[in-house]
Amino acid sequence: MTRIWEGENELDVYEAAQALQSGKLVAFPTETVYGLGANALDQQAVLRVFKAKGRPQDNPLIVHIAAYKDLDDLVEQPLPSFVQLLIEKFWPGPLSLVLKLKEDSPIAPAVTGGQNTVAIRMPSHPIALALLAAAKVPVAAPSANTSGKPSPTSCLHVLSDLQGKIDGVVDGGETCGIGLESSVLDCSGERLSMLRPGAITAEQVEAVTKLPVVIFKWEGNNQKEDMNTPRAPGMKYRHYAPKAPIDLVNGGLEQLKLRVMEWKRQGKVVGLLAFKEFGQHIQADVFISCGQQNCLESYARQLYRALRAFDDNPLTVDVIVVQAVEETGIGVAIMNRLRKAASTGFYMASPNERLVNNN
Ligand code: TXA
Ligand code: MG
Repeated sequence: MTRIWEGENELDVYEAAQALQSGKLVAFPTETVYGLGANALDQQAVLRVFKAKGRPQDNPLIVHIAAYKDLDDLVEQPLPSFVQLLIEKFWPGPLSLVLKLKEDSPIAPAVTGGQNTVAIRMPSHPIALALLAAAKVPVAAPSANTSGKPSPTSCLHVLSDLQGKIDGVVDGGETCGIGLESSVLDCSGERLSMLRPGAITAEQVEAVTKLPVVIFKWEGNNQKEDMNTPRAPGMKYRHYAPKAPIDLVNGGLEQLKLRVMEWKRQGKVVGLLAFKEFGQHIQADVFISCGQQNCLESYARQLYRALRAFDDNPLTVDVIVVQAVEETGIGVAIMNRLRKAASTGFYMASPNERLVNNN
């Protein structure tokens, strides 16, 4: 049975923390997405996380902590000065740092997939911080979704994927203010690399550290970097995807309108995911609004809810036309997730290209 604890209730949070500490699987809200927590020192608990999510074991987990001193036992000391600067500036917050694991670190081997590095973050969500502090152990927590599905930004999303497979959820309502997973910055090598873009951008990291940041780009099935030894193993899997294929469209209202019409002309049932303001102007079969024009933060916050809504809709769509956004600020993270969601393992030709091919 999966219990629901009230995030606003101190006693509930305390009970959830006890459950976590004793090896149970507990999902909880963070400022990015909901995480599925397990005691990071407990190998059996961590293995159950992989099982509940259906996640490949070579994709390591992020360890969540509530206090700076928790780092001392876990990672190699002293921390490089640029890491200290990043921690001062961005913790607690949506930045995961990949650091060198301490030689006798107590972290369960399943957390890191046997690598000699570990990703660590201190979330800023008050319920997450209270839970972690009460659990008194570092907590390994991937996003609390079934592997491959969009990450959960509400308690209901968590239950729809994991009910019956985990011990409980701390309900924080729809409080994931950012809506996309943390930035993952590798600080363990010669150069700083942004393995996964998020709300903290490479430019912000460069401004604080005065060091250049290498950026890894997702390029669908034509990965530039060597995916046999991926830096963030999560990068090689398709992610964040609803059931229907995604057709990612650059441009504004007119381009989206045209694309929807082209698919409809081919007899397809067409879904549209775009800014709220665009809905009334485009005749899609199913319209799910996502954020407002001129506010990329609102698009990020609602993206996973919107992608999930297509799977829950009574009318099944053949294709989802999705609004692409400008790659600045959080737009870099949005486009990273959308490209991954759109890469279905086969090439999704645009309707025009398909027409040409058919002729
Ligand atoms: O916002 C977030 O980061 C959320 C919340 C719950 O904190 N967590 C999350 O975890 O998104 P997950 O497991 O879905 O993503 C972890 C990412 C994966 O891409 C994984 O490959 C990478 O971090 N990662 C973890 N440990 C790593 C390591 N030692 N070296 C390189 N990449 C690592
Ligand atoms: Mg995830």
